[in-house]
Amino acid sequence: MAHQRGILDPPQQHAVLMTFDLEDASAAPGRLRFLWEDVSERLHDWYASYRLTVTVGFGLPLFEKLGRAAARPPALKAMPGWEGDDFDPAATQGDLVVQVCGDDRAIVHHAERDVRHHLAPAFAVRDYEVGFGMPGSRGVLGFVDGTGNPHDDARIPVVLIGDEDPAHRDGSYMVLRKIREDLAAWERLDTGRQEQVIGRRKADSAPFDPPESTPPTSHKEKSTVGTPGGEVEILRRSFPFGGRDEAGLLFVCWVRDLAQYETIKGQMAGARNVDGTEPGKDAIEQFYTAVSGGYYYVPPEPEGDGYLGDFLFE
Ligand code: HEM
Repeated sequence: MAHQRGILDPPQQHAVLMTFDLEDASAAPGRLRFLWEDVSERLHDWYASYRLTVTVGFGLPLFEKLGRAAARPPALKAMPGWEGDDFDPAATQGDLVVQVCGDDRAIVHHAERDVRHHLAPAFAVRDYEVGFGMPGSRGVLGFVDGTGNPHDDARIPVVLIGDEDPAHRDGSYMVLRKIREDLAAWERLDTGRQEQVIGRRKADSAPFDPPESTPPTSHKEKSTVGTPGGEVEILRRSFPFGGRDEAGLLFVCWVRDLAQYETIKGQMAGARNVDGTEPGKDAIEQFYTAVSGGYYYVPPEPEGDGYLGDFLFE
């Protein structure tokens, strides 16, 4: 089956990320069917030149509220709290997530309004975040973001569920975290100090030369986890955000198993590395605070007359 759009597509210039609460279970199948019909038969075609993508995922509480815990993909779980987080994951986890991306702000707005309209009254918006793209692949810290991502076909085994869970094959898991960055503190560092934090050169994202001169607490080193089975990888596809009072990253990553994300984040947040060395925490953690987040299962596109989420009501 085909994975949903908005996972492997090159990131667009605008994004709206919305989480929803289930309000009326009896209306949910009809509204989800209507949403999928409009997305697949109209929105993706009409706005193809703006690279519009609408991506839908389901959180663990939804399976529980619908009495369908048995339909949950085995690897779907609750997001744990990490040291330094400023939120309660149980309080910000949504029942549903919708990611709407496109290259035009107005088109994204029209589409996300349609999505909200289609989902009501079954689902009500809980959290609503607006993100933007990364010109030159640079986020609000001014560094290139995405260099260390897997590329091309190497992304498939990182992102899509396979033989380990045939019932959910070609689905994926989405990690969503709103990360507020302390830009005032960041901008007090000169470029050399910033490079020590990230572990790459600001001008071109090149690694340090020689590589051994990379600080062990740099983000590059702490987010690299080698295991006997190979490097643990995730596909980051985040969108920065910024306004008068706050700025940061709507951190989005895609994995076939949430353990991939948790292994990397665990090494970043802890002093100790997976290999037993103890360099200290990831230096980047001093400059950000996560303020909301959740985990979602993102099924593959349905076939025939199915719809996204139909497996919840069988
Ligand atoms: C404010 C939050 C964050 C910012 C601004 C940020 C920014 C960056 C930057 C600039 C790089 C270097 C270029 C690149 O390889 O993409 C990077 C690398 C990376 N980041 Fe983050 N990051 C953040 C949070 C996270 C989190 C929460 C994770 C995972 C749990 C993560 C995982 C990674 C990984 C796996 C790499 C690749 C390392 C490499 O091979 O160079 N990052 N990030």
